[in-house]
Amino acid sequence: MDQYAIKGGNPLVGEVEIGGAKNAALPILAASVMTDETVYIDNMPDVRDTNVLLKAMANIGVMQKRTGRHSVTLNAGNINSLVVEDDNIKKIRASYYLIGAMLGKYKHAEVALPGGCDIGCRAIDQHIKGFRALGAEVIIEYGLIKTKAEKLVGSHIYMDCVSVGATINVMMAATLAEGTTIIENAAKEPHVVDLANFLNSMGANIKGAGTDVIRIKGVEKLHGTEYTVIPDQIEAGTFMFAAAVTKGDIVVKNVIPKHLESIVAKLIEIGCEVEEADDWMRVVATKRLKTTHVKTLPYPGFPTDMQPQIAVALGLSQGTSIVTDTIFENRFKYVDELIRMGANIKVEGTTAIIDGVEKYTGATISAPDLRAGAALVLGALSAEGYSVIEDIHYIERGYEDFPQKLQSLGAQIELIESERDLQKFKLKIG
Ligand code: EPZ
Repeated sequence: MDQYAIKGGNPLVGEVEIGGAKNAALPILAASVMTDETVYIDNMPDVRDTNVLLKAMANIGVMQKRTGRHSVTLNAGNINSLVVEDDNIKKIRASYYLIGAMLGKYKHAEVALPGGCDIGCRAIDQHIKGFRALGAEVIIEYGLIKTKAEKLVGSHIYMDCVSVGATINVMMAATLAEGTTIIENAAKEPHVVDLANFLNSMGANIKGAGTDVIRIKGVEKLHGTEYTVIPDQIEAGTFMFAAAVTKGDIVVKNVIPKHLESIVAKLIEIGCEVEEADDWMRVVATKRLKTTHVKTLPYPGFPTDMQPQIAVALGLSQGTSIVTDTIFENRFKYVDELIRMGANIKVEGTTAIIDGVEKYTGATISAPDLRAGAALVLGALSAEGYSVIEDIHYIERGYEDFPQKLQSLGAQIELIESERDLQKFKLKIG
């Protein structure tokens, strides 16, 4: 099993190019089945989740040509099945975007129930409520969500909770419904806006994405398009926190600073300097970090996908910080691992009480999910001595070339497969 070997203690310094946003690319890929014409997508991250989705789409007959590592041409004109149930698709969350996309286009979809990171109960009641409001029948049977409609008719839908996935799914189905759909209490994340822009570039009529009321006037059909996915706000935030925890100096390039506002606010509160330009940001940390309190919230609040990274940083700050995750109830599984590195953290329900320590020390730890895995890598990079991070397949779901990018900033990190590789790494690093 692949692992990362890390020798911590180096400040990370340099520039790093941020890739396309995984959580925008996934619904955009799925939505490309909504037209028979060809769609060209650029700035697509080459990560496990996007590749699993592409493979599932190939299995139902979506023609695809990788025109470059980050670009793909897709044509769904000859789809041969509306049932998606291969083994891998069950492991990713975004499989369910094919339901909204295929229901919109074909008025029928059967997709394996979604998986994704185990970070708490990940209900889909709001997706189902939205599809039903548009006139679809929805049943869950034999591990599949099956949905069908004679026709879809626009409706006024109030989401009971702010859900990225439900907003995206209902928006896709409503795009090809008759009449107008209004989604209230919609998610405002940049990836929701990116999908709306993508659909509009295909001829959809969606207004208000990025606010909590989205209005969708159904259109009869969509056409082909060329589209560039937005930069990944969470990948950028992860590298910005890498500067914070290693007392480094990192420039993240190809970012949209507006999407990073809540992350920047916290970096400044904990004592980092942040410099901002049109499409890059620089984070410099020179002193011991300060404490702060964090509550994760839907956008524009502090993202739950950055909660483990900020907690790792606060674990090194002077004093006590409180971190509450209001989005997922089980997103602190990494805390036990961080404690192995010397952190002093107590979890009570959805809150972590963090008493900062002066330093972490290396340990063998395992990634419990995607973002927590990346956060533990940051912890190991700041720690004294060697660490081994196991279960890095989680990290590969959403970070492209993570060790290579970190190496380019001066990190001592290597992909290893065995104890022998670890010994070689230790001999090399000395
Ligand atoms: C998306 O998950 C992201 N995944 C997650 O990123 C991210 O953590 C999350 O949004 C929040 O920002 C993708 O985009 C593929 P939600 P999603 O629906 O859509 C409750 C990562 O690390 N809820 O916004 O599954 C739910 O239980 C991943 O990249 C319902 O109750 O999240 C949760 O408490 C991890 N009923 C809250 O809403 C529903 O029908 C937010 O979930 C839907 C959601």
